[in-house]
Amino acid sequence: MVSVNLAERSYNVHVERGASKRVDRYLPEGAKPTAVFVITDDNVAPLYGGHAAGAFEAAGLPVFTEVIPAGESEKTLATVERLYHAMLAAPLDRKSLVVAVGGGVVGDIAGFAAATYMRGIPIVQVPTTIVAQVDSSLGGKTGVDMPEGKNLVGAFHQPLAVVTDPETLSTLPRREISAGLAEVVKHGVILDAAYFERLEALGEELLAVEPDTMHNVVLRSVEIKADVVSRDEREGGLRAILNFGHTVAHAVETLTGFTTYLHGEAVSIGMAAAANVAEVMGLCDGSVGERISALCEALALPLRAPNISAAEVIEAFGRDKKTVGGVPRFVLPREIGKVEIGVRVDEGALREGLVETGFSA
Ligand code: NAD
Ligand code: GLY
Repeated sequence: MVSVNLAERSYNVHVERGASKRVDRYLPEGAKPTAVFVITDDNVAPLYGGHAAGAFEAAGLPVFTEVIPAGESEKTLATVERLYHAMLAAPLDRKSLVVAVGGGVVGDIAGFAAATYMRGIPIVQVPTTIVAQVDSSLGGKTGVDMPEGKNLVGAFHQPLAVVTDPETLSTLPRREISAGLAEVVKHGVILDAAYFERLEALGEELLAVEPDTMHNVVLRSVEIKADVVSRDEREGGLRAILNFGHTVAHAVETLTGFTTYLHGEAVSIGMAAAANVAEVMGLCDGSVGERISALCEALALPLRAPNISAAEVIEAFGRDKKTVGGVPRFVLPREIGKVEIGVRVDEGALREGLVETGFSA
């Protein structure tokens, strides 16, 4: 069990094999929901939706389940509005509990619905993808996409608990496994060299998502993210460390219309690019980028985005919601396990690092 320490909003992340079958047992002491509203998607519903609903039914609680179509395209205000109507029809009151069972899309949508329904009701996250288990289920960022861009509307809403079952990863499609592992690699690079070495030693073995191996990996990543969130909930400073590789990743995703790369795949390219930019700037030596690239390659992740130019990437930075005053700030590696946040990069170094990463000149 890992704690996210945020005073009265503190909660535990329970990483345990089989936990998705007994979600009801992980509610904090004294939590007595009047009803449970399970939100899941149509891929996850037949696999794990029933486990969560069944556990709460067996505990004697009224349970309602809402299944949304799978996919990022559903992460909209229209979906949230449909959920509000179903929550009102149930009816849920201010003491009812939302339970999100699924990947980051379900977690972000359900989190936002819970954050805003009757000005906020509790949620338990039951993440079933690697991305959700190591990243989106903890930290309290919730929200939806707008036609203008991803995650542009949202709220911070910390869960009551996170129930993480590494066994659920066994049914994930192969590409989703690789994409999720990119965020795991990120955790090693930003804060834990020994963890990165363990990941290197496992290499492509990680792709088998063997439950005991994944238990250890997910647990270490959860510890790292929980520590960062506990120290900087609202991204006033340190939490920006989690954006390592993400500035270039967002540009790549935007320039390819969010259809070519999964987010983690774009993060892999973004981490390689950040290491190359850092090397051009003399912040780190070439071995950092080589090790990141070798590990990502072993995890079947892409390292370059053909058909995109360095100039297009640089132009896209200006439109990123994290860019302040048109000047992008980067998270760049010093060595494996140590990065600098808020680094200003001049355009020459940026261009050189991007071209080095395979973006055309
Ligand atoms: P996702 O939720 O779309 O899940 C990926 C696919 O896997 C979906 O088709 C889903 O139905 C399916 N799936 C989920 N669990 C499964 C399982 N166990 N077995 C088989 N199939 C399964 O994608 P994701 O990568 O989990 O999450 C991406 C989303 O998370 C994005 O919207 C991103 O913005 C968000 N995100 C949020 C945060 C945050 O801090 N809130 C952090 C990272 C990502
Ligand atoms: N996924 C980045 C964060 O939670 O801050």
